[in-house]
Amino acid sequence: MRFNDSIALITGAGSGIGKATAVRLANEGAKVILVGRTRSKLEAVASEINETKKIPMAEVFTADVKDPGDIQEMADYVKEQFGDLHVIINNAGGSANGKILEASEEIWDHAHDLNLKSVFLICQKLGRIMVEGAERDQGSQNRSIVNVASLSGYKAGAQFVPYSTSKAGVISFTKALALELAPHGIRANSVSPGFVETPLTEGGLQNEKFKQLVEKKTALGRVAKPEEIANIIAFLASEEASYMTGTDALCDGGWYIK
Ligand SMILES: NC(=O)c1ccc[n+]([C@@H]2O[C@H](COP(=O)([O-])OP(=O)(O)OC[C@H]3O[C@@H](n4cnc5c(N)ncnc54)[C@H](OP(=O)(O)O)[C@@H]3O)[C@@H](O)[C@H]2O)c1
Repeated sequence: MRFNDSIALITGAGSGIGKATAVRLANEGAKVILVGRTRSKLEAVASEINETKKIPMAEVFTADVKDPGDIQEMADYVKEQFGDLHVIINNAGGSANGKILEASEEIWDHAHDLNLKSVFLICQKLGRIMVEGAERDQGSQNRSIVNVASLSGYKAGAQFVPYSTSKAGVISFTKALALELAPHGIRANSVSPGFVETPLTEGGLQNEKFKQLVEKKTALGRVAKPEEIANIIAFLASEEASYMTGTDALCDGGWYIK
């Protein structure tokens, strides 16, 4: 199994892409730390994972990734409880609508704190634990960070400027992170999903006209299942992607090429 003896932390693991990724990594042998704000959602995912295993593989840590204090506590917890970390999936995030001439400073700050600053702080504070681990084992174990960006990070979405710029920032940040961590043998990549069926898009997809528009704009003619994005995240996180770093994997069903 690709993640035997690995400790993986997944933010936004209570639903959607994060949940699918946590289940996937745990099923492939990782001990998973599930992070999010809502304990009940995380506990439901942990139960789903643990009920099929002899040894519990999932633990819950409630944290708001917009709160630097919570991130520091999370880093302290990981260090004390596990003493090491092999995989980080920075997936927690959310949309933020707004045009340049109309968006408030609050929505701008919210999008960038949630989608970009959180990634910086988590990579800094938990990345240090990964670096220490890599120094101890002299790079013999696979270590990898995957940040969830978006197709919106490629496209100028006139209605979602704070979201688009924060996700473009994630793609750019990940390349710099990959350069900085490469000497330690730690890889960093991002994934940019197109339209995925999750609680984030549920409202929009209930509108049949909107759903048809999305399908029309997507070359493959359909929205993605969270598991299809989790497959790509798991690949990038695994040893199989050992020669990939500083890359963004666009998984948009062919929206961008159309
Ligand atoms: N769905 C799509 O079409 C799509 C497309 C491109 C990119 N993405 C990206 O994919 C990622 C996952 O989204 P999703 O579609 O799977 O949506 P989702 O089901 O809403 O998942 C987002 C998760 O993040 C958690 N979260 C939100 N704010 C948080 C915070 N401040 N601190 C900690 N956790 C927080 C939420 O749980 P709590 O509310 O309990 O904290 C939730 O479980 C996001 O970064 C999103 O931008 C999604």
